[in-house]
Amino acid sequence: MNQKILEKFLCDLPLGGIKYYESTDSTNDQALELFQEGSPDPFLVIANEQTKGRGRAGKTWFTPPDSALAFSLIIAPNKPTKQNHISRLTGLGAVAVCEGLNELFNLHGKIKWPNDVLLDGKKVCGVLTEGHWLGEEIQTVILGIGINVAPESIPDEDNVDYPATCIEYHLEKSVDRLQLLKEVLRQVFRWKDHLWRHEFISTWQKHLAFLGERVVISYEETNNRNVTLQNGEIMGLDGDGRLILQNQHGKEFLSLAGEIHLRPLIDK
Ligand code: BTN
Repeated sequence: MNQKILEKFLCDLPLGGIKYYESTDSTNDQALELFQEGSPDPFLVIANEQTKGRGRAGKTWFTPPDSALAFSLIIAPNKPTKQNHISRLTGLGAVAVCEGLNELFNLHGKIKWPNDVLLDGKKVCGVLTEGHWLGEEIQTVILGIGINVAPESIPDEDNVDYPATCIEYHLEKSVDRLQLLKEVLRQVFRWKDHLWRHEFISTWQKHLAFLGERVVISYEETNNRNVTLQNGEIMGLDGDGRLILQNQHGKEFLSLAGEIHLRPLIDK
């Protein structure tokens, strides 16, 4: 992978520009800087290695060289977007990865709501969506996507909050990262303009992990203690991408405030 190869290979996608790093701290951080310097929209920032890759809730994201995909897409929403719309943008990355894995490899990724992608119950992809606000509206979104491709990209068990896997482990053959990148980007652009349609929510729901199963969901407090918020059965998503959970009190609608941890509930 290098700047020229990427520009050539991705030339038929509607990208305003591409910036490739052999190694960088975090593509989300670089993307924010490039956006502030006036990068064209949409803009792709991609790295072969990240030395300070960021996950959600201040966690680190492991991106050793030559083995993963780590990229951030700077994309402005195509209509005025407020806080309650952010969940759709959050789902966009995970939907694009699931659809891409299905299209290329017939792999059935599942979305651990809101936006982790699992293969056979293990995490293969994480999405970090960061909005840049102007007053009450989101001016642009930095959609950071990290995908474990080769076994070297799987972090040690001690460094993950959920069991992890990689694509090659499931395919038992090597994966062309460029081809995968292009397909995921193609899916992002395919869905980006349909975020406000029911079809997007139903596709997100189609890929939902633990649908019809009991889960436990907790919010993380600032002091890092987990506080259980809900137990219940996942019923699906509502029109705003909120998770519908059924429990003894009725239906609860969970939106994307705070740091969310979702786990299957195993009856003992
Ligand atoms: C998570 O599951 O916690 C989200 C992980 C997001 C990782 C990606 S890799 C590309 C982009 N740059 C970062 O520093 N983070 C995101």
